[in-house]
Amino acid sequence: MSTQLISSIRVGIAGVGTVGTSVVNILRDKFSTFEQQFGVQIAISRVVVRNIDAVRNCDLTDVVVGAELMELSTAEDVDVVIELIGGVEESLALVRESLRNGKAVVTANKALLALHGDELFSLSKEKGVPLLFEAAVGGGIPIIKVMRESLAGNTIHCVAGIINGTCNYLLTRMANEGAKYQEVLADAQKLGYAEADPTFDVEGIDAAHKLALLTRLAFQQSIDFSKITHFGLADIITDDFSIVKKMGYVIKPMSIAKQSSKGIEIYVFPALVSQATLLSHVNDVTNVVQVFADRLSSINCVGPGAGGDATASAVVADLVEIVHAIHNDSLSSVYTPQLDERKQQAQMVDFEETEHAYYLRFQMEDKPGMMKQCASILERFDISIEVLNQNEPKDGENTVSVALITNNVRERILQQAFHEIKKLSGCCSENSSLIRVFQI
Ligand SMILES: NC(=O)c1ccc[n+]([C@@H]2O[C@H](COP(=O)([O-])OP(=O)(O)OC[C@H]3O[C@@H](n4cnc5c(N)ncnc54)[C@H](OP(=O)(O)O)[C@@H]3O)[C@@H](O)[C@H]2O)c1
Repeated sequence: MSTQLISSIRVGIAGVGTVGTSVVNILRDKFSTFEQQFGVQIAISRVVVRNIDAVRNCDLTDVVVGAELMELSTAEDVDVVIELIGGVEESLALVRESLRNGKAVVTANKALLALHGDELFSLSKEKGVPLLFEAAVGGGIPIIKVMRESLAGNTIHCVAGIINGTCNYLLTRMANEGAKYQEVLADAQKLGYAEADPTFDVEGIDAAHKLALLTRLAFQQSIDFSKITHFGLADIITDDFSIVKKMGYVIKPMSIAKQSSKGIEIYVFPALVSQATLLSHVNDVTNVVQVFADRLSSINCVGPGAGGDATASAVVADLVEIVHAIHNDSLSSVYTPQLDERKQQAQMVDFEETEHAYYLRFQMEDKPGMMKQCASILERFDISIEVLNQNEPKDGENTVSVALITNNVRERILQQAFHEIKKLSGCCSENSSLIRVFQI
């Protein structure tokens, strides 16, 4: 795109669903403000949707509404493409062709960038047109801008947070109401907080997509998405919430990437979080991203992680940055995530070799010697017990719940010990829990 003669920026939007509708509404509200601020008119010239006859909750007067996705990548009346269709294959084709044709792109699509970021960011650099993605992580939280600009003087050594609102909502309700996972999931689906097919959210895949992007920014290295370990929520047992509460913790859906001496550790799992931390108070669908850096210890960015308006707010922020750059004839200098020349592909640590403290809970027959056998297995694996909580048997039951928190142990070793304890005669193996403890 030649940037010098442009007095109006023409936007093409792919997808007018939850986020796209809000983007159109915000732009309509702000057209005149932006024109005053930047001296450039912003116009929505085209939108592309699947069903062109559907009624939309936004004003599409004077906008060409089409169903041919790829037309946006070649249309002469489109300078900036906003990709809000989701999915991977079709969005990849659109973003790739748009960049190839010199169009700036804004996307909210974390899956696309987690899987194809290498190709698309290098294409963006080669063509000198930006590919911005603030909305892809943390919805309305401006974490990408914070990491790429505000923390530029720092070396980041860890980024961690709660970056899936659906999971946070489910765990918050299980903790507050003592409800079972399947019950709160069904309710969340009815209320629109969980998709009809919740797999991406509840198995940690959506969070892993976002974490791949945060990790790339934090360490300037390419992340092999297939090597990110992610655990879902389905194994979390309701009883554990009240037990961990007594021990000073809550259970949160954590996503963590950190630089260790062995390489980059990157994983998504439900974890015990100390009640003394801010993270433990981030509830329902709210997200938080915590960045640990050498010059400022740590910062927390908290806010709405999803929703049409919050996500569109981030999309519009990216668009405004592009408009500003076009106005200043500096489009090619807009940020693109760069890889560290010396270590482009991240050395990712095998999850089995990572170390954590663990919360373990066993339901055991109330008979002498059970706890001793359990302790001797832990001792054999050189695992010590840091916190212990033993409940008396409930009326009419002859089993006790034994919960403990270990010292820092390698995952592979811990799993061996856990399985040996579950095999003890008198231990109800199907009613036992293993949850990692979040600590930096
Ligand atoms: N929703 C959120 O809170 C949120 C938060 C952060 C990021 N995001 C990301 O934002 C993106 C959009 O999400 P959304 O919730 O707005 O999705 P959505 O409500 O399902 O809307 C998708 C839109 O894309 C259109 N579309 C899909 N495939 C198409 C195709 N092949 N050709 C033309 N149009 C197509 C659909 O058209 P029809 O309307 O005609 O079906 C619809 O307008 C996704 O990447 C998502 O991960 C969403």
